[in-house]
Amino acid sequence: MSSKDTFEIEDKYFAPFFVKQKISIEKGEGVYVWDEEGRRYLDFTAGWGVTCIGHANPVITDALVDQARKIIQNPNSGLTYSPARARLLSLLAGILPPNLTKVFFTNSGAETNDAAIKLARKVTGRAEVVSTYQSFHGRTISTASATGQAKNRDRYRPLMPNYRFVPYNDLEALERSLDESVAAVIIEPIQGEGGIRIPSDHYLTGVNDLCKKNGSLLIMDEIQTGFFRTGPAFITGACGVEVDFLTMAKGIAGGFPFGAFAMSEAVAEKLEIGDHGGTYCGNPLGCAVSYAVIKYLIDNNISENVEKMGQLALNRMNKWQTEYGDAVADVRGKGLLIMIEFMNEDVATKVKNECNANGLLVTQTQGIGIRIFPALNIRKDELEEGLHIMEDAIGSVVKNSVRS
Ligand SMILES: Cc1ncc(COP(=O)(O)O)c(C=O)c1O
Repeated sequence: MSSKDTFEIEDKYFAPFFVKQKISIEKGEGVYVWDEEGRRYLDFTAGWGVTCIGHANPVITDALVDQARKIIQNPNSGLTYSPARARLLSLLAGILPPNLTKVFFTNSGAETNDAAIKLARKVTGRAEVVSTYQSFHGRTISTASATGQAKNRDRYRPLMPNYRFVPYNDLEALERSLDESVAAVIIEPIQGEGGIRIPSDHYLTGVNDLCKKNGSLLIMDEIQTGFFRTGPAFITGACGVEVDFLTMAKGIAGGFPFGAFAMSEAVAEKLEIGDHGGTYCGNPLGCAVSYAVIKYLIDNNISENVEKMGQLALNRMNKWQTEYGDAVADVRGKGLLIMIEFMNEDVATKVKNECNANGLLVTQTQGIGIRIFPALNIRKDELEEGLHIMEDAIGSVVKNSVRS
């Protein structure tokens, strides 16, 4: 097969949901990937914030093979015990905020949020869920209904009822929206798909206080920010907020489809046999991979690398804002979750295309920006290589269009 054959087959048979990039990736190693003709690209997308310890990391392949040789799916699934699941549960207990004492496993982010919303309604006996504008919580019908971006929600009307929206980072608006019918507030500690929107310092604590006062549960969606993406294991733990549900996916298993939600003891006590389940709910294969990935992140003190590399990238990008002020509108981020916002979508698209042409893969976000979220174990020289390509791309786009 060649890239050309792959393009032809995918264009013919793959559901037409994406504007495809004409790049067919055959393999990867670390932060690099190769297309079918052997052309190398540096991956600043980490498979959409997922491959947190790089591509084809032997830690993952070894865990996959070792566990697959033993058992992939337990007899009667979650009804039987699994040492792979037990090992992962103990490891997670060491990095989760201490008030979150019970965990259940899923297969994706949307499914995780869906479960948390469903269980919050069960626990409180209330129906309403408050979410924020510009949020993204998934693509099932209930999580699309909870998503605050019209483009990812309104086309599926009729949506699930009982969702309300308030502006992000606005405690007064949240307070006004809360009443005794609100089961839960679902919120990202930094809005990821919404364009790396970082709230002010006391916002999350304020949200938590308002939820507690109103008897509503707080679902913290750390699907994009969790597992050291911004430095700490979870922003929730770092800012000392005691949420009721913490939802996780993406980095949890470094690319293996997996997810989890953790909940407080008080919530767990109100749940009963049969309240939730799922065929793969913590299958040993996913658990073994997740354990290996999280152990790698902890053992390699990844938090320190994320903070150092994140700072390096931000410093460099801030200079671009000064140098290319007529193209770069803003640079913001935390750890290795960074957004560079351009003056308009056309500039962002041109910069992305130029990066691709020069061997760097990046994610265009909200049309107007480029999001950088590479593997968390990226080395300084690799990061600098990518930043160099980006800087050249911006320089060339500015020279050819903005200033012409
Ligand atoms: C914050 C957040 N929540 C939920 C999701 C949905 O996760 P998944 O695509 O695994 O269903 C995403 C995906 O980007 C996300 O960023």
